[in-house]
Amino acid sequence: MNFYKKGPLKGIVTIPGDKSVSHRGVMFGALAKGTTEVTNFLQGADCLSTIQCFKQMGIEIINNPASDSVIIHGKGLHGLTKPAGLLDVGNSGTTLRLISGILSGQTFATSLNGDASIQKRPMNRIIAPLSMMGAHITSLGENGCAPLAINHSGERTARLKGIHYHSPVASAQIKSCVLLAGMYADGETSVTEPTLSRNHTELMLSQFGARISSQGTTATIQPDPDLLGQKIKVPGDISSAAYFIAAGLIVPGSEILIKNVGINPTRDGILRVCRQMGADITLENVIDTGGEPMADLLVRHSELKGVEIGGDIIPTLIDEIPVLAVLACLAKGKTIIRDAAELKVKESNRIDMMADNLSRMGADIRATDDGMVINGGKPLHGATIESKADHRIAMTFAIASLIAEGETLIREAECVTVSYPNFHSDLSALCK
Ligand code: S3P
Repeated sequence: MNFYKKGPLKGIVTIPGDKSVSHRGVMFGALAKGTTEVTNFLQGADCLSTIQCFKQMGIEIINNPASDSVIIHGKGLHGLTKPAGLLDVGNSGTTLRLISGILSGQTFATSLNGDASIQKRPMNRIIAPLSMMGAHITSLGENGCAPLAINHSGERTARLKGIHYHSPVASAQIKSCVLLAGMYADGETSVTEPTLSRNHTELMLSQFGARISSQGTTATIQPDPDLLGQKIKVPGDISSAAYFIAAGLIVPGSEILIKNVGINPTRDGILRVCRQMGADITLENVIDTGGEPMADLLVRHSELKGVEIGGDIIPTLIDEIPVLAVLACLAKGKTIIRDAAELKVKESNRIDMMADNLSRMGADIRATDDGMVINGGKPLHGATIESKADHRIAMTFAIASLIAEGETLIREAECVTVSYPNFHSDLSALCK
């Protein structure tokens, strides 16, 4: 797809539902007794993969894309049935890692696979703790990646063991995987992570009736919960909002209102860093119902300055680092991003992808072992961008193209359907 310099951005945009929260609504609804209704559900390909996996395991799920609502007729903790074929997670790491925790606690065998990207992503990070719990889970290619086989060595009769797992990485996917397996364990299960990752699992499982608690960076769950169907209203995805925040800040003359954005403190690092860079962002209509807080964000074009980003804030903005790198190109001075080696094992190696593609556009950027160093202020020009079908890379460069002289060609730009199917039209609608 071709993109051109455009703007200013004016008007209102309503962001589709949060990907992490949408996944969990379907998964926990399937394991609860009774009906769960998820509204403002994200109709992205990743979340549709989650629906498909649970349908294959005998759960009746009615998706109404016209109203973005999903009804799940849950069958309780032990209500899943053996799927006919293998479970296909597509591009979705969240589906694969969270579902593996649930499947480890079942009595039937399953196989899981996904697309070319997912087959390169590290799964030993879940195989290790699940094996400690007594699960039978293997990488079929013996390379620590999908395809995975669970319980193939025979039907599970013994229960999983409750463990206290010290995760080497701050990852909500690892934490959630182990906590979900913990529901099928013989005792309490805890996960301690080096810094706190997003806590949607803890918040939502508690709403469904699980006995789950958090203290600092440790989350603990008791086994055998009686989960009950719930009404879940999904907040707008701050990771999707990030592209419009960035566009509003860098395109001169812009002023946009981004509606209904989830501002859970384990996800709002982007707002904190933007403010530190000098961004003009105002929160309006803040709603905190005790679960997932939301707000409208008023964003105006701003003069930005370089910052250092590292440490505990990284998990709270991990998916927003690519678009933060674009902001850094526009900022005065140097931006250093560190402690973000996890970017190398996302849908693509996002450190290399940002360094390669932004360099093609004329930026002064250098990849490091755990992040990047960017000297801001060099004007960007159009270039050919390889997204390697990574949705966040494609959206990031659609934003960079708005301030680049000439034409930008983004290859496989349609991959945005993974997390934001209407991204390109929503962006065009704001560009006057
Ligand atoms: C997610 C957690 C994050 C994030 C991903 C979604 C989740 O991954 O990058 O897009 O829904 O739990 P990690 O927890 O592995 O860092």
